[in-house]
Amino acid sequence: MGDREQPTDRVFLVTGATGRVGTEAVSLLARDARRPEVRIATRDIDGPWVGLMKRFAPQRVRPVRLDVDDADGPEAALDGVTDLIVVPPLMPDMEGWHARVAEAARAGGCTHIVKVSVTGARAADSDPPPGAIPTQHFLGEEALRASGVPTTAIRPTIFAQHFTGVPALYQPGADRFFLPTGDAPVAFLDCRDIALMALAVLWSPPQARERHAGQSYELTGPHGIRARDVAEILSAVAGRPITHVDGRDTYRAHAADAGLPEGPLRVYAEAAEGHFGGVETDAFEAVTARRPRTFAEFAADHAAVFASRSTG
Ligand SMILES: NC(=O)c1ccc[n+]([C@@H]2O[C@H](COP(=O)([O-])OP(=O)(O)OC[C@H]3O[C@@H](n4cnc5c(N)ncnc54)[C@H](OP(=O)(O)O)[C@@H]3O)[C@@H](O)[C@H]2O)c1
Repeated sequence: MGDREQPTDRVFLVTGATGRVGTEAVSLLARDARRPEVRIATRDIDGPWVGLMKRFAPQRVRPVRLDVDDADGPEAALDGVTDLIVVPPLMPDMEGWHARVAEAARAGGCTHIVKVSVTGARAADSDPPPGAIPTQHFLGEEALRASGVPTTAIRPTIFAQHFTGVPALYQPGADRFFLPTGDAPVAFLDCRDIALMALAVLWSPPQARERHAGQSYELTGPHGIRARDVAEILSAVAGRPITHVDGRDTYRAHAADAGLPEGPLRVYAEAAEGHFGGVETDAFEAVTARRPRTFAEFAADHAAVFASRSTG
């Protein structure tokens, strides 16, 4: 039997902590045998989800207030933080906000930042030019790198969790999913692997961590899969046919009829053009010594979402 790990004095802070990636990062940190302090940055420190997350490790998980729209800066939240994971909401001034966060992190004693960016983030004058979201994320990356705090960017592709969190795409228990990606492959990525990658970078031994400073890592799932493959996988998990409904207009009409927000329809349109089919897992495998989860593993782990409601 191995020795029990000594508690670390490192202090982690996760922005976007109540979101899909952030929750996974907090969950990993809460279970970590090194028992770090975990600050969960949120606009509502008394919210029910925050209350739930505190229960992950009541002695060590601490909510701190952070609203990117507030005039109050992030200084108080970041004071004493050694390891920072930035999962930002999209905001008009990504560059300015990231610069303020980096400055507060530096002043607070932070030794490394991992930023969750987006696939294809690059400068606006690149050829071909990036879309609006990758451009904004790249400005955020650059602001962090310019601060002098060692920074690593992770650039994930489309999350598999769209199937559990975008109701216009899929609603729990439904027999159909609406995904206007035609026959194009998409290398869906599980959010749990983004959190795993971020933490693997931060917990790397010092020399390896130094090598991650200034790096940007593209990250996708292990296979590009087509919507018809998704239908097969979901049907197998649910034990009944779950069919694919294609077409942008159909998706839009379905969302409108059901009174659902459209979700990231533009991203699906780009996917239909083949922009999210490539596979890039080398960095993930090198840093974590694992391969990212397949879509089939994601579906199996969320089987309850795909089970028929009528069977209770
Ligand atoms: N969806 C994708 O497929 C995809 C792919 C690649 C990259 N990304 C990037 O991933 C990030 C989103 O990650 P996610 O899906 O994990 O997030 P999410 O589930 O959408 O959660 C958003 C988080 O942002 C926080 N937030 C919202 N408004 C805020 C504000 N004004 N101030 C401070 N915090 C605020 C919320 O925290 P509170 O409500 O607790 O304050 C929440 O935890 C974005 O940067 C996106 O561009 C997404």
